Amino acid sequence: MKKVLVLPGDGIGPEVVAEAVRVLECLRNESGLAVEFEYGLVGGAAYDVHGQPLPEETLKIAKEADAVLLGAVGGRQWEALPIALRPEKALLGLRAALGVFANLRPAILYPQLAGASTLRPDVVAGLDIMIVRELIGGIYFGEPRGVRTLENGERQGFNTLVYSESEIERVAVRAFEIARDRKGRVCSVDKANVLEATELWREVVTRVGGRYPDVALTHMYVDNAAMQLVRAPKQFDVLVTTNMFGDILSDAAAMLTGSIGMLPSASLNETDRGLYEPIHGSAPDIAGKGVANPLATILSVAMMLRYSLHEPLAAARVEAAVAAVLDRGLRTADIREEGRPVVSTKAMGDAVVAALRASFS
Ligand code: IPM
Ligand code: MG
Repeated sequence: MKKVLVLPGDGIGPEVVAEAVRVLECLRNESGLAVEFEYGLVGGAAYDVHGQPLPEETLKIAKEADAVLLGAVGGRQWEALPIALRPEKALLGLRAALGVFANLRPAILYPQLAGASTLRPDVVAGLDIMIVRELIGGIYFGEPRGVRTLENGERQGFNTLVYSESEIERVAVRAFEIARDRKGRVCSVDKANVLEATELWREVVTRVGGRYPDVALTHMYVDNAAMQLVRAPKQFDVLVTTNMFGDILSDAAAMLTGSIGMLPSASLNETDRGLYEPIHGSAPDIAGKGVANPLATILSVAMMLRYSLHEPLAAARVEAAVAAVLDRGLRTADIREEGRPVVSTKAMGDAVVAALRASFS
């Protein structure tokens, strides 16, 4: 029996997570998927109850679970809190505690949504990129950090970009392994012309690449990568990069598809234990209205099935069910199109579950 910890979180998190859980329940009913759920508090929802965004209890269950499904964290009411108590801090703490160093962020343009991108259709049609972002190192976690007062009384903020060889190596290995199952190309993104830490990054990735002669490795400076992503994104297959560069580039890549409400993510540790979450945030402006797109969270469940629960066929079924509802013209507000009816979060979830169930008959 596999254990999944469900952390709905804040904003639209609970709404979209509910639909994704129904998808797993459907698989349990139809195909005997051996999965059980536990629920926990995270983010602002946890702060309101426990006075902290990542309670011990949540952390404990998360470490025991085979996978964690997280909705989203954050909202205006918690923005004034000190950094250590903000909902976002829970996300960083959870990632670090689970040791999920490899963050997989696919940017796929569904052919059914070709019109949603702000880029010309010929630039993005068929887009299928996998960004592998290092998630628990680099400048996000480097010490020393803080704000200090200089002798002249002026304050100075500082953070540290650090990467050890083993941290670079393990995420590089992931990227090469993933590329093997795709088009066999890895582009490593760094700023090796300026930053020593990423000069080492380039050296280690190159060394790891030597063990994967079947994968073509290229290197790109991050400024050029940002430009190439909007100029000719289809040149990329797998992109592997540092925590902060990956944060920035994955938002840009997500927008190429025009529909951030569609994009899932997986964060994995050495043993394939994972944290799964939609790329979009808590969207407080539409929370509670039942209009959010649940597909990114449902597709995160597909990633969970593939990477942590080792059920590739079930993963493919869920992805096919999502494609089927898009084919049928169902659209939530974020991906609305002229002449198509807009459906609610619940109706979209219903449709995916129905398509999934139908795939078994
Ligand atoms: C992301 C987010 C987080 C990050 C924030 C919310 C801490 O932007 O998952 O990309 O910077 O990693
Ligand atoms: Mg981000």
